[in-house]
Amino acid sequence: MLSKKENEYLIEQITRLKQEKKAVILAHNYQRPEVLDIADIQGDSLELSRAAAKTEARVIVFCGVRFMAETASILCPDKVVLLPRADAACPLANHITVSQLNDLRQKYPQAVIVCYVNSSAEVKAASDICCTSANAIRVVNSLNGTKQVVMLPDQNLALHVAAHTDKEIIAWEGGCPAHCQLQAEEVRQMKAAYPRAKFMAHPECDQKVLELADCVTSTSGMLRYVDQSGAEEFIVGTEEGMIHVLQVAFPEKKFYHFPRPMICQDMKKITLASIVESLTKMQHVVSVPDEIRKPALECLSRMMKLG
Ligand code: 13P
Repeated sequence: MLSKKENEYLIEQITRLKQEKKAVILAHNYQRPEVLDIADIQGDSLELSRAAAKTEARVIVFCGVRFMAETASILCPDKVVLLPRADAACPLANHITVSQLNDLRQKYPQAVIVCYVNSSAEVKAASDICCTSANAIRVVNSLNGTKQVVMLPDQNLALHVAAHTDKEIIAWEGGCPAHCQLQAEEVRQMKAAYPRAKFMAHPECDQKVLELADCVTSTSGMLRYVDQSGAEEFIVGTEEGMIHVLQVAFPEKKFYHFPRPMICQDMKKITLASIVESLTKMQHVVSVPDEIRKPALECLSRMMKLG
């Protein structure tokens, strides 16, 4: 734990380096509070992709995990994209390889392949269209004339979409370790403990958990739901960093997390010190080679065109 003075010193350094390098700092909602505090833009995967696509900065410091920095690099090849920690990965994104995807293509030649944004650039390049937790149902239902859809790599997201479409969904069996383990019984216990609270769940949670939710949505979708709902108390079914984000946005409301830890260790790797180091040394540059970037951009652009 850094002292207040040490923190202030790091923030000064970041402010100076940002100006010097013409950089913008994007941070995912699961980042550490002190990182979110210094970010220029904070959001869910979809919002951050949109922000990356329209920034005028020369350098993008992506405080998130590798697939997010890759997405920024695919959308903005002329910018320098930095991931402050080279080892900030997404275990879910590593659940499928291109060769496994190609096997699916052979097995289901009529199907459209929809990849979750939590996937590698190579997997995006080999897929037809991308989706995020914020737009997965919309993306699948936009596929006019398509009867069969392969969704990868997140099985829970795919099953959630299957419940909201008349298309046949073939789900790859990947999952997010932070969300997958949450059990319906734990939700029932929390609901019994906080009977007035609304339960918000991320679509990466198990179907039995989602069935108990008042709202199934992306991380930023949770902010919008709280804003629009008249409720005062909420049980939060996602990575626990979201509690801080919600509490800052709505200080007068109450947010409850599960007793079990739901932490994405990779998201927490980035610190103020690693951002200073990243901007000073211009490391770790994430860049996607053109032969992968071009088809991956098509896959992302099809999604972004849906708005
Ligand atoms: P959101 O796009 O909902 O923020 O989710 C990103 C993610 O990685 C969830 O595990």
